[in-house]
Amino acid sequence: MIYYVTPTYPRPEQVPELTRLAHTLMHVPRIHWIIADDQPRCSDIVSDILKRSGLPFTHIASPKPPTASNSTNFPRGVANRRAALSWLRENVQEGVLYFGDDDNTVDLQLFDEIRQTRKVSMFPVGLIGSYGVSAPIVKEGKVVGFFDSWPAHRTFPVDMAGFAINIKFLNPAATMPYIAGHEEDRFLVSLGIKLEDIEPLADNCSKVLVWHTRTAKYQKPSLKINIEKMDNITRYKNFVTL
Ligand code: UGA
Ligand code: MN
Repeated sequence: MIYYVTPTYPRPEQVPELTRLAHTLMHVPRIHWIIADDQPRCSDIVSDILKRSGLPFTHIASPKPPTASNSTNFPRGVANRRAALSWLRENVQEGVLYFGDDDNTVDLQLFDEIRQTRKVSMFPVGLIGSYGVSAPIVKEGKVVGFFDSWPAHRTFPVDMAGFAINIKFLNPAATMPYIAGHEEDRFLVSLGIKLEDIEPLADNCSKVLVWHTRTAKYQKPSLKINIEKMDNITRYKNFVTL
């Protein structure tokens, strides 16, 4: 079983993002979708998407700490991913964990690949940073380093969507820090992973099968000229304007 962990939060783009992701995951056999809501309670519109997908799922809620809302560079999706990790530790003994943001794009082939993860697998992620790709560097079938435009003294300079973990290795010490940009690295370090443990996937990390796509923020129309139209839009049940 693959446990696909998606942190999410309310905004106008949330329903379209999750709808698109649901439609990808609906093609994947033996997958369990864990949606971790950055909210005090599980939202009804998210829950509706989950139910309609027909996928096995778990919907949990765990909001970011209150200090986070004041900061622009706050680590995103940490409290909710941590809650998903606790849920997995309590409820699941075997399977593969993969973190997938609600706005990423995934090739179905990636799921066939990560299913084989024995300890930790890694693979390239497209549309990241100034190099365009973040990927492990593979020599003779072994990961020897990383190609990433933001090394930042990280042991594992990879994106959240660039690795999968066998749940057997989710030890009690495994955690994700509230440090923007360092969530992935510190999480992998907390698992006690070594470079030689990494299983390179996607044809020795030569293929991009997941992209860090980002959706342009919906710009509210000018309220002055469109006040009547805006009122109509806010009446749609699954259209969130903030
Ligand atoms: C990148 C990485 O892809 C994230 O996995 C990482 O958490 C993030 O950087 C970071 O270092 O903070 P990016 O595309 O820049 O992500 O950020 P978002 O897509 O806006 O957020 C990442 C995930 O967290 C998304 O699934 C989003 O829905 C969720 N999120 C975002 C929350 O749960 N709460 C928020 O307030 C914002
Ligand atoms: Mn994103």
